[in-house]
Parts: sequence; structure tokens; C-alpha cells
Amino acid sequence: MTEVKERVTLKNGVEIPAIGYGTWLVNDAESAAATVAEAIKAGYRHIDTAAYYGNEASVAEGIRKSGVKREDIFVTSKVWYTHRGYEKTWEAFEATMKEFSFSYLDLYLVHWPAVPKNYDNWKEINAETWRAMEEIYRSGRVRAIGVSNFLPHHLEPLFETADIIPMVNQIEFRPGYAQIDCAKWCADHDIVPEAWRPLGAGEALKGEVLTSLAKKYGKSAAQICIRWVLQHGLLPLPKSANPERMRENLRVFDFELSAEDMQKIDTLPPDDTTAIPPDQLVEN
Ligand code: A2P
Repeated sequence: MTEVKERVTLKNGVEIPAIGYGTWLVNDAESAAATVAEAIKAGYRHIDTAAYYGNEASVAEGIRKSGVKREDIFVTSKVWYTHRGYEKTWEAFEATMKEFSFSYLDLYLVHWPAVPKNYDNWKEINAETWRAMEEIYRSGRVRAIGVSNFLPHHLEPLFETADIIPMVNQIEFRPGYAQIDCAKWCADHDIVPEAWRPLGAGEALKGEVLTSLAKKYGKSAAQICIRWVLQHGLLPLPKSANPERMRENLRVFDFELSAEDMQKIDTLPPDDTTAIPPDQLVEN
């Protein structure tokens, strides 16, 4: 089992809080800023967004509203698949920075890999996107770079041309879709894995296994789920609009799931939340 820590160090020495606040679908301008400020008030110091979420300016506004210093908050954004390749990745980055109006980002990710289903030259496209990411990193305007939804067979070809190995890979990971092998492969290559939609959009919390473990440990099903993600060595990015649940989702550092209980969750059948395997996406 991976040792669970409240902060994790990326391979370039940058520290990242282990639990991030996910902001997908938090996109109504006014409420998004208020929700992000509320999350920071609840204790989050790591906010995850993306150009695709359409809320970068609101996330920035929420950070300002919170009164917590910018440098005390770890902010991630991502380049969307419409902006792959060297030039377009730079364009997307400049647009993101304009939205944020901060002088730097903590982490910038490639949101989805180009895949063979859609592109004969997918390796070249990913390599060119990554070349821009490396330059962006060297410019000093981002503290770390990485990818999202890349599986080992997308990363291996990238390694052939990359000067800098991605520091993070954000993947779908939840009960019912536990990509344990991919997460382990990333950790073995010094890439910190993060988990998007770790609660299965709430659906993963309804099953009998999670609810009975919640009773056993005196925790909520969401806390069991988040702890399970952490014990697998991934950084969970749960989302909640409710201040009490925001706080609850951070209180997971005072207990430990046994190996046997971890396995009970590992082997759960898929739930109702649809998995999004990167190689099968129609549009990507
Ligand atoms: P709510 O915003 O009402 O709290 P994910 O992070 O996997 O995308 O899941 C987000 C969903 O899970 C939201 O619908 C959110 O609802 C719900 N959720 C988040 N935290 C909790 C919690 N502690 N208990 C129950 N549901 C939760």
C-alpha cells in the first residue's frame, strides 16, 4: 500500500496537496466563483479546472474572493483536444492565462491523448503538443506539466521524443472503474496519478460494499471512497457544491482501510456511471 500523505512531491520538487477540488460542471459564472471560494474556506488548497470547463475566470475570481494568497493555492488547468499540436497548444495556454489573469499556473495538463482510432499520425500530434508543453514549462509560467487520460501505450511513444517526462497523469478512477494497473505503471515511472470523478459522480457511493464499509469504519461512503483512492497512490479530485460535504471529503487522514477491504472495493462491478476509455472516444 502507498503511504498516504496530505501533500505529495512531484519529481521536480513541486508540492501538491493530495486532495484537489474538482470543478467540472461548476460553470455558472457567479456561483462558480462563490463555490470555489467556499471550497477554499472549507480547506481545499488545490483546485482543478480545464479550458473545457469554461470556468477558468470564475475559478480565479473564487481564489481572489477567498482571501487566501495565490501562492498558497495549487491551480491546475488543461489544454482541450481542439488545441493539440505545437502552435495551438501555445494559443490555448495564452487564452487560459488571460482567463486566469494570474502570472502563473501550478500545473498544466494535456486533457486527452490523440488516439489511433482518429488519427494515423497520433504519435506525432501528441509529440508536438508535448513539445509546446515543455516550452511552456521552461518559460517559467507553469510550475509543472503533465497529461490526462493517457494510458501506458500512449505514454510510451511520447517518451521517445520527450525531454521532460510528464509529472502527472490524471485518469478516470473510481469504484467500478479502478484503473489500478495504469496508476501503478505511472507511479513506477515517477508520474503522480490523479483521479477524476472519484465518487463516480455520486453513483459509486450507493452500493452495498461502500455503505457497509462506511458503517464499519464510522465514516461516510464518500470518505471510504476517497481514502481508497489515496491508498492506491492517486490524488482524488472530488467535487461537491455542499460546504459540509466539501469538508467531509477532506477528513480522510485519520483512518486506514485494511488490505481486505481495499480489495472489496477494487473488485466491484462497474456502476451506472459510464467509463470513458480514451481509445474509444468518437470525438477526440
Ligand atoms: P453534492 O454536490 O450535492 O455534494 P465526483 O466528485 O465523482 O464528480 O462526484 C460528485 C458528486 O458526488 C456530486 O453529485 C456531489 O453532490 C456528490 N458528493 C460529493 N461529496 C459527497 C459526499 N460526501 N456525500 C455524498 N455525495 C457527495
